[in-house]
This record gives sequence, C-alpha cells and structure tokens, in this order.
Amino acid sequence: MIKIAPSILSANFAKLGEEIKDVERGGADYIHVDVMDGHFVPNITIGPLIVDAIRPVTKLPLDVHLMIEEPDRYVEAFAKAGADYITVHVEACPHLHRTIQLIKSFGVKAGVVLNPATPVSTIKHIIEDIDLVLLMTVNPGFGGQKFIHAVLPKISEVKEMANALNPELEIEVDGGVNEETAKLCIEHGATVLVAGSAIYNQSDRALAIKKLRG
Ligand code: DX5
Ligand code: ZN
Repeated sequence: MIKIAPSILSANFAKLGEEIKDVERGGADYIHVDVMDGHFVPNITIGPLIVDAIRPVTKLPLDVHLMIEEPDRYVEAFAKAGADYITVHVEACPHLHRTIQLIKSFGVKAGVVLNPATPVSTIKHIIEDIDLVLLMTVNPGFGGQKFIHAVLPKISEVKEMANALNPELEIEVDGGVNEETAKLCIEHGATVLVAGSAIYNQSDRALAIKKLRG
C-alpha cells in the first residue's frame, strides 16, 4: 500500500491545525514538514516551535524534512518537539553516520535525502542503518515546481539496493508529485509520496489523496 505524506508547505498557515486535520480525515499516512533555513535552500519556513504546536493536533507520524545546514545542531530540538521521522540531506552532512546515530538516539526514525543530481551510491554504506530514503524530484526550496523525470531511474536503483541490503526501507519521493508523476514513481518502486500543491490546492483533499495512491 502506497503511503501519502501531504506537505504542509502548501497549506494555509493561518489555519494550520485545521489544514492538518483535513488531510488526516482524507486518509493521509504522514504529515510532511518542510524545514528550511535560508542557507541550505533559498527559503525560510518552519522551526521546532511549529512542530511542537502541531504535535497534539494529529495522530499521524510527523515526517520532518530538514533542508538546513549543520542539522546536528537541531536534531534534539525537533525530536523533543515530536518528530517521528527526521530526514537529513546527504549534501549537508559530512559525518552522515554520526548524524544518523544522533537521530536514532532520540528514538526517532532516521532518513537520508538526496538532491536530484546526487548519486545513489552516496547512501550505499548507510542504507542498512536507516529507515527511509527520500529522493528529491525537484530542487528543494519551494512548493509547486516541475517534476524532474531524470530522477526516476534513481528510484529503481534505491529499490535494488534496498532489496539486497534493507528490504524494510521506505522509499519516499518529494517534489512535483501529481496524479501523473505519482504513477511513474510507484512503477519505479516508491513507497511514500510527498505532495504539497497536488493536495492543498484542491478543495477535496480526500479525493486528491485517493487519486495519488492510484
Ligand atoms: C520542496 C519541499 C517539498 C514541497 C513539495 O523543497 O521539500 O516537500 O513542499 O511541494 P509540491 O508537491 O508542490 O512540489
Ligand atoms: Zn519536503
């Protein structure tokens, strides 16, 4: 069963709690939280304070995507705020193994994110230690961008590596996922789809989620 993780980046922040409850009622599996620092990516969004505020609003796991430099400095704060998954970019982690162990030390599931141009080989020696791989299908920073089709073979590559080394691994994709590109991601082996605009720009979120699942 394909999981759907609505990205609250495209939600109406003036009524964030209601927006989260709406996708939970609509059948979402995770809530995807995009954290941006204005350095690693050219945009600033959410900090631990907001994660803490939304934690009591939903029973769904909070999937916290850190698009920040020096993520080690903030892992504890996001863990204590209630993150269930914390994902860090391989491009931002010179000591990736240490960062993953740090995340797991708080009892939080750990994931690694790859930008579109980053090769899958960068996770070969960490894949047995992680719960999730997130493949960016846009350059991170903004919602509503166009899906980069060149990432599709990377999904198959991760799938193959996971079959050999970590069959339980969740394979998530993020960016430009809509009804059409969701189908391609699923065909290539994705198990979790993040979608911002394809869900939050629709008035019927339950229907939007159903369509993405295929
Ligand atoms: C992009 C973020 C995504 C974004 C996806 O930097 O990581 O999670 O919100 O938005 P859509 O689905 O609109 O591309
Ligand atoms: Zn994201």
